[in-house]
Amino acid sequence: MPSRIRDLCPRNIDLPLFGSRPARPAIYPAAVYHCDSPEQAQLRLGGQEPGYVYQRDKHPNADLLAEKCRQLHQANLALITSSGMAAIALALVSCLKEGDHVLMSNRLYGETSLLLDREFSRFGIEASQVDMLDCEQVRSQFRGNTKLVVAETISNPTLRLADLEKLATLAHQSDALLLVDNTFASPAVCQPIELGADLVVESMSKIMNGHGDLMLGALCAGNQRGSELEDRLTCAIKTWGFASSPMDCWLAERGLVTLFPRVAMASSTALRLAEELSKMPQVKEVIYPGLESHPDHALAQKQFSPAATGTDPSDETLFGHMLTFHLPGSLETATRFIQSLPQIPFCPSLGEPMTTLSHPASTSHRSMAAAEREKLGIFPSTIRLSIGLESPEFILEALRKSLVDLDF
Ligand SMILES: Cc1ncc(COP(=O)(O)O)c(C=O)c1O
Repeated sequence: MPSRIRDLCPRNIDLPLFGSRPARPAIYPAAVYHCDSPEQAQLRLGGQEPGYVYQRDKHPNADLLAEKCRQLHQANLALITSSGMAAIALALVSCLKEGDHVLMSNRLYGETSLLLDREFSRFGIEASQVDMLDCEQVRSQFRGNTKLVVAETISNPTLRLADLEKLATLAHQSDALLLVDNTFASPAVCQPIELGADLVVESMSKIMNGHGDLMLGALCAGNQRGSELEDRLTCAIKTWGFASSPMDCWLAERGLVTLFPRVAMASSTALRLAEELSKMPQVKEVIYPGLESHPDHALAQKQFSPAATGTDPSDETLFGHMLTFHLPGSLETATRFIQSLPQIPFCPSLGEPMTTLSHPASTSHRSMAAAEREKLGIFPSTIRLSIGLESPEFILEALRKSLVDLDF
């Protein structure tokens, strides 16, 4: 005998919208979609007809977010993955096969190096590190089987810049692709595809979303290899299970609504703080690409200019929300400084709405030998800030108080 409650609860009820258009996108958490016929299911699953069948293959919230990322980066194709690392893994599995060689920057995010060194090496793919700041060295390291060059727009934590135009030219001369991790910049600061990159990764878990409440990645593909690479990317995202959650995609799309003002505000605060900290005797050295003293300042002015990012020519060049400085002294000084600064929490991530601090020697670069770290300019007293949306005065006052209290 049918049971009204038991039978009704699992059913869908369609609510008519009477032609109303919601001002913000809906969330589609459905794991699976109804099919009208076997023919339709086959066409949709095969990609010959638009429409959705299974969330892991594609879903409207990922498609909407991907389309926004595609337009932001002026890419041919954008795909949304479950994390920034998933976007990097997706790029690697789609571009590489046994016997291939990868040239990777010696300043990459630690997990990216680990992925290539420990994971992809098991599949017969070799990766070698090169100093991407030295284009002659890069040129000399290409091999006949080099298929991919991996660099970051702004490296962690010393904020050195890769010359993306030059790297793209070198890669293309050797018939290789250039993959750029743009996470520290975001498209508001730099658009690597415009500069010649083939693939761009954004960890959406950082400033792209900007609210510190989700994990996602985006992979954008430029024009270089056309549809063959795009076919492999769209196949790999579903077969390797890199897919994203609708709720996270919906949140990230909402985060992107304010991307430009957030990055502009944080960049302007970062520049002001960099200038002020440079004047303080308690700070040994300030690293910020917007400072004339930064070794890559001229390159930053070119790569991050409004002309290169497609913003209004009268807009200020944005140099990003990341700022690093060295304290005099050692780990003990850094520990005292961190513990005396409750207004700026020690969170080993970036792109949160509030200003946060990280200590690279004990977090992102902890597995590196001290001598190797120091060669890259990372010391036990190195502090990295991810600037948030507070006023520069609030952050400055907190930093000033702790620095003065350190009493060197
Ligand atoms: C530069 C860079 N790339 C990629 C990632 C990975 O992103 P996710 O944490 O979203 O996997 C991170 C994470 O910290 C990062 O800093």
